[in-house]
Amino acid sequence: MREIYSQHGNAAFEALLAARTATRQAAFFLPHLHAGMRVLDVGCGPGSITLGLAERVAPGPVLGVDIQPAQVQRARALAVAHGAATLRFEVADLYALPFADGSFDAAFAHGVLMHLREPARALAEVRRVLRPGGIVGIRDPDFGANLFAPTTALLQRWFALRVQIRQHNGGDPYLGRHHRRLLLEAGFEQADAGASVDSAGAAPDLRRHAAFHVAQLQGLSTTALAQGWLDAATVEEIAADFDAWAQRPDAFCAVTWCEAVGRSGVAAGHGKSTQSAPLTI
Ligand SMILES: C[S@@+](CC[C@H](N)C(=O)[O-])C[C@H]1O[C@@H](n2cnc3c(N)ncnc32)[C@H](O)[C@@H]1O
Repeated sequence: MREIYSQHGNAAFEALLAARTATRQAAFFLPHLHAGMRVLDVGCGPGSITLGLAERVAPGPVLGVDIQPAQVQRARALAVAHGAATLRFEVADLYALPFADGSFDAAFAHGVLMHLREPARALAEVRRVLRPGGIVGIRDPDFGANLFAPTTALLQRWFALRVQIRQHNGGDPYLGRHHRRLLLEAGFEQADAGASVDSAGAAPDLRRHAAFHVAQLQGLSTTALAQGWLDAATVEEIAADFDAWAQRPDAFCAVTWCEAVGRSGVAAGHGKSTQSAPLTI
């Protein structure tokens, strides 16, 4: 059974994703990229991170893929607006990438694997399209290492329900801590991992985090309402609690993002040829 992507078609959530950048969200991976590399961004969403990856490796070609056609359309518009001639976007399922073995030098997956029922299988597919010696960068939050204060009984209830919903839909909110194991299971020979924290303790960042929580609530509560775990009035009350939290002079939160880089072996598992297929943009 496939997972359900909880934020499918959630325009408010997608608008917030579009504020992400490679400089911030891919900081751990950018040092591994250099001009001329062919890069694949899987689950690229609105494409703002992909755009930064393309700037980093230009004139190397960069391809963003997403399973949602609306996301790809939005990402294409962004590429056009920025005149990004080396950047292309396509609809594709990351479990079955429509590319030949060894098509890319590097791949990236940001905030994607935690939504998947079979993240190791997805990573094995990413590895297949990497050339021998290619690298992948992955980044996901781990809900076991988040801080949020001060809280309310309702927000505590919501945070527990948020975990339940993610698991019900086939994802793993505690996936970040397993990045190294997943990369090794997927056949990567080397897996190095670390973490960074997105925190808020002053007005603009508190508002940004509250807006993200409210948009995330909109998507996740679809499942909670369908399952009878919440009613619509309570969803409104949770949103109001997030808004009130962001106004408090003592509010603080921190989200831990786990990040890892996997390196594919030079010889193993790439079919018979060690020649990379050309990629045209
Ligand atoms: C939380 S968003 C992250 C988007 C972007 N990487 C970012 O960080 O801004 C997850 C994205 O993964 C995409 N996605 C989920 N399952 C997928 C699959 N099987 N194949 C390709 N994309 C998928 C979703 O459509 C969504 O755009």
